[in-house]
Amino acid sequence: MKKILVINGPNLNLLGQREPAIYGGTTLEEINLGLKQKAASMGLVLDFFQTNHEGEIVDRLQKLDGDFDGAALNAGAYTHTSLAIRDAILAIQTPVIEVHLSNPYARESYRQRSFLSGACRGVVGGFGARSYELALYWFATT
Ligand code: DQA
Repeated sequence: MKKILVINGPNLNLLGQREPAIYGGTTLEEINLGLKQKAASMGLVLDFFQTNHEGEIVDRLQKLDGDFDGAALNAGAYTHTSLAIRDAILAIQTPVIEVHLSNPYARESYRQRSFLSGACRGVVGGFGARSYELALYWFATT
């Protein structure tokens, strides 16, 4: 079974209460539970990591090789600022898919630039919690 790590960055621990008109009313715990169930039927094993700290995302990415077959990464606002996370993705072999609940390209101009997209295997955004599912689907079928 492929092992995939779902990484969530800053403020995603507040899902459910954070700007629900944009991000929905489902908590991260509920999203992760739903993903775990879906993943089982896709033949994937999931692990989850959330942090509000940029360096902790870098540290986690650096430890993926050999342990995981892929990662779905919602880096939150660090998507638009973090060269360090981009470099970490480029430094490892494990494929990383960039994930967003919202569609950043339909939002403010400062969200329309991603430091990460060019380093990632692909990008999924705009489908709410299903964005994570779609990323998992790629891992399951590749
Ligand atoms: C987000 C989009 C980012 O622009 C924002 O900073 C987030 C969440 C999303 O999932 O839609 O924190 O990554």
